[in-house]
Amino acid sequence: MNATSFHARSMSFFRDQTPLPKYWFRGNPYLTHRANAITLLFPRGEEFFVRSVRDALPRITDPQLLRNARAFAAQESQHSRAHTEHFELLRTHGFDFDGVMEHTRRQCEWTDKHFSLEMRLAITCAAEHFTAMVARELLGRERDFFNGIDARVRSMFRWHCLEELEHKAVAFNVMKAIGVSERVRLAGGLIEFFAMMGFWKRATHILCKQDGLSPEALDEGRRIAMREGDSPDREFLKRYLEYFKPRFHPDQHDDRALIEKVALEFDYARSGRA
Ligand SMILES: [Fe+2]
Ligand SMILES: [Fe+2]
Repeated sequence: MNATSFHARSMSFFRDQTPLPKYWFRGNPYLTHRANAITLLFPRGEEFFVRSVRDALPRITDPQLLRNARAFAAQESQHSRAHTEHFELLRTHGFDFDGVMEHTRRQCEWTDKHFSLEMRLAITCAAEHFTAMVARELLGRERDFFNGIDARVRSMFRWHCLEELEHKAVAFNVMKAIGVSERVRLAGGLIEFFAMMGFWKRATHILCKQDGLSPEALDEGRRIAMREGDSPDREFLKRYLEYFKPRFHPDQHDDRALIEKVALEFDYARSGRA
């Protein structure tokens, strides 16, 4: 078992509008563009996850699961807002995110229209597995993955990772409660994997092009990231595959100690005890 109840924290990371460096991720263009590209998926993607869970709620009777589904929706909408504020600061460097975000919006709407609720939930669960596994990996590292980046951005990412771990099983439990078959669950895992990887690659390419970055400069950034252990793509792929195990459940990873530790950074500070 993992977190049984949790809440959305209303956070504001960018009240201070001090500009961010263009390569805010430790001066590394590769890490910066990869992080920008994946986070561009969040605002519309998270809205899609919330819609999928909400559409299933009339079929849910467990009061605890209903409460968790509401907290899940509240957390996800806060995440979208925080990342949008981060994008606003990055726009000062001349990036145009609108085309990429519009593409995501259209893809999500297409999925809403053409896929069953069961399949939308299966896709959502696979995406939630991805975010939980990334959060566990990044928060659990001995050496702080977000070390050396702007304190506002570092806090935002740690908070987002924390809440992804807290609500990691909600969509999955909703999916199970409405009786989605294993076949649909696994198909959703495949669709999500290819859609997300395709988007990530395409968005990274668009941002690098807007930046006028040479392939050599990007490669150099990637080499540095790999040397410093900051590009754990292979590890992510291996962990993503866990979703395809026959009796997979997000709670098979016990994240309670990690959640408790990171939550102190936010809950204690907000309650004035630190
Ligand atoms: Fe999120
Ligand atoms: Fe999430």
